[in-house]
Parts: sequence; structure tokens; C-alpha cells
Amino acid sequence: MELQGKRIVLGVTGGIAAYKAAELVRLLGKQGADVQVAMTAGATHFVTTTTFQALSGKPVFADQWDERMPNAMAHIDLSRQADLILIAPASADFLARIANGLADDLLATMVLARTCPLLVAPAMNLQMWENPATRRNVARLAEDGVKIIGPASGEQACGEVGAGRMLEPEEIVEEVLAFFAPKVLAGKKLVMTAGPTFEAIDPVRGITNLSSGRMGYAVARAARQAGAEVTLVSGPVAFDPPQGVERIPVRSALDMHAAVMARAADADIFIGVAAVADYRVANSAEHKLKKDNGGMPPIELVENPDILAEVAALPNAPFCVGFAAESRNLEEYAQNKRRKKKVPLIAGNLIQDGFGGDDNRLVLFDDAGVHPLTPAPKSILARQLIEHIAHLTGKL
Ligand code: C5P
Repeated sequence: MELQGKRIVLGVTGGIAAYKAAELVRLLGKQGADVQVAMTAGATHFVTTTTFQALSGKPVFADQWDERMPNAMAHIDLSRQADLILIAPASADFLARIANGLADDLLATMVLARTCPLLVAPAMNLQMWENPATRRNVARLAEDGVKIIGPASGEQACGEVGAGRMLEPEEIVEEVLAFFAPKVLAGKKLVMTAGPTFEAIDPVRGITNLSSGRMGYAVARAARQAGAEVTLVSGPVAFDPPQGVERIPVRSALDMHAAVMARAADADIFIGVAAVADYRVANSAEHKLKKDNGGMPPIELVENPDILAEVAALPNAPFCVGFAAESRNLEEYAQNKRRKKKVPLIAGNLIQDGFGGDDNRLVLFDDAGVHPLTPAPKSILARQLIEHIAHLTGKL
């Protein structure tokens, strides 16, 4: 419920992507947003007002002369109450109209009468998007402070492939969340690690661990939403990187070490969330080991570099944050790690509370003491961690 209490006017304009706006209403509602839908006449040719009314649980406005508003001022009343107007899909025609300040239907009038920010998700055919007239309109809107999200490239309804496809509803919700998140790390460069590592024994076998990467990816997402430029050095995980985050995929601890050390000196903040293997296989085999070839040779282990400790020891080191996943004695082990690795902040959790799942119980350890956070979904804890980091680095 990350949008609890936010009032969003969702403007739907005429385009085939209008059907995706139905899913968008549902997803925004799921996050706790209060969604009021307003449609252009064109949009009602693609999806009916009934669909949006059923999904939002509210009457939909599609007519400038709607008499349901007692003072006949729907455009003023609806846009005055909103925290955000989101236009998705935004057609080429609608962008042209609002770029020029036209108020020739209810939605365009609401946009012109608004006092809140405006987010638009364009959706149109490739040639329409690339047409100099659209380019001009989009540039004008950006200059006026309108935030343009997308469009994405891909297969279009007309059969062509290229830029112009509306962002997917999930991606639009991410942009809305990022839009509302306080920008406590604005302009900060953050390098971080997440996920497990994989230490090869031979080309198909290896030593790894049960880290899912969920906590790290939630931290990357929260940091990006807080305005940081995020580079995520990630071990093998099963999901896509958060929107707007640069992911550097790696496999072994040595790969992760190299990828981090190449970037850490330029970073303002480094967060080590990855469950890095303490040891790698010294005698890993080039070819698959066969049991009929004299049996399995003993696995020799050699210690991996400690990435977090090395980054913390850099001259001009970034602000370093470590994680401690323990099966017992959390406070003692976490505090030891903080001292040994010389980092100002460690986020600790018990493996049984968080490894692999969606929720976690985090305790923050810093110079000021011990700060237990209320158990919550990883997305919420990640945001609290980012706020704590911003506070310690003096940005709050
Ligand atoms: O003591 P331990 O190695 O478990 O400490 C965990 C913390 O150190 C995590 O932040 C982890 O990402 C980091 N770490 C590291 N390189 C290693 C081992 C752990 O960066 N080789």
C-alpha cells in the first residue's frame, strides 16, 4: 500500500493501449491510491466508462458538460483534489492539445486547470512518435515541467516494431511510486551488490547459497526511487532489475569483486547486500568431472576477497553499508562485522526471518546504537534503510 492516501486522476485518451489502463486502475488501487478516471471521447471508443467505473468504484467523467458536479465545474473540482494527474495512454493528439494549452474537452481542461504535477505515458504508432510535430510537442511539455514516462520500444498494434508502445501498467505504477518517493538521495551515486555468488567446481557444478536477491533488489529500487543513480552488481537471480537501475550481472565472488572495485571509488554510497561466498574452489575443473574417471577429486577451497571491507578501506571510501544474515546471536555477530570491516552501518537479520521470502525483520546497527525496524515487506524495509542512510549521510 505504497500509495495510501494519494489521490490520482487517471486520464485515458484514445488509443488501443486504453485497455491496459484498466489494469493500471487495478494496480494503483492495490497500492492504496484513490483513483478517479476521466476519459476523452476517443477513449470511450476503445473501452467503456463502465469498465473503469467497475474497477475504480467511482463514476467516470467523460463529458465536459457532465451535470453530476453540483456547480458544473468538474474540471476545476476534480483537478483541485488531485495529488497527481496521470495520462495513460496519452495519444499524439492529446499531447498536441495540452502542449498548446487547449481546453477543448473535459480532460484537457482538467490538465490546464490543475495545480498538481502531471505525468504522461505516451502511446502511439512509431511514425507518429517520431514525427517532428510530436517531438516538438513532447519537448514543449518537458520544458513546462510535465514528466514524460516512456514510451517503450516493441511490437505495436499496427504490426510495426519501434518506439511508441505505452509502458506496461506495472512499469507505470513504478514510475508513480518513484514520483511520490522523497528524493533523499538525489544526485547520489550508489554502487551495491545483491544475490548469491556461484563458485564453479566444474562447468556445470558449483557452490552457491539460498540468497534470492529480493532484499538487495528492493534496496536498489528504493534507492533509485529516492533519486540515486544506482549500479547493481548482481549474482545470479531469477528476476529483472528494478526500473532505472543499471545491472551488472556477475557469477562468482571474484567477478563481483572486480565489477565493484572498478566502480566503487566513484560512488558516494556502497551497500553490500550480496551473500558472497567466503571461499571459492581453487582446483575448479575445465571439463565436467566424471565419476568413472577415478572419482571426485577433493575440493580445495581458497578464501575470497572481502569486497565490503576492501571498499571501506579505499582512500576516499564511499559511505559503506553491510548486511549480516545470521542464524543466531545477531547483535553480537553484526557488531563484530561492523568493527572488523570498519563500516558505519550494518543491517542485520536472522536467516529464518527473511532469507528467500517477501518479508523480513531488520535491525540496524550504527554508532548511535541498535535500531530494530518493525517486521514488514522487504520493499518497506528497503525504503526505511535508504532513509536511515540518507539521515546518516546528512541529507535528511
Ligand atoms: O561476515 P560476512 O562476510 O558474512 O559479512 C557480510 C557482509 O559482507 C555483507 O554485506 C556482504 O555483502 C559482505 N561481504 C563481502 N565480500 C565477502 C563477504 C561478505 O562484501 N567476501
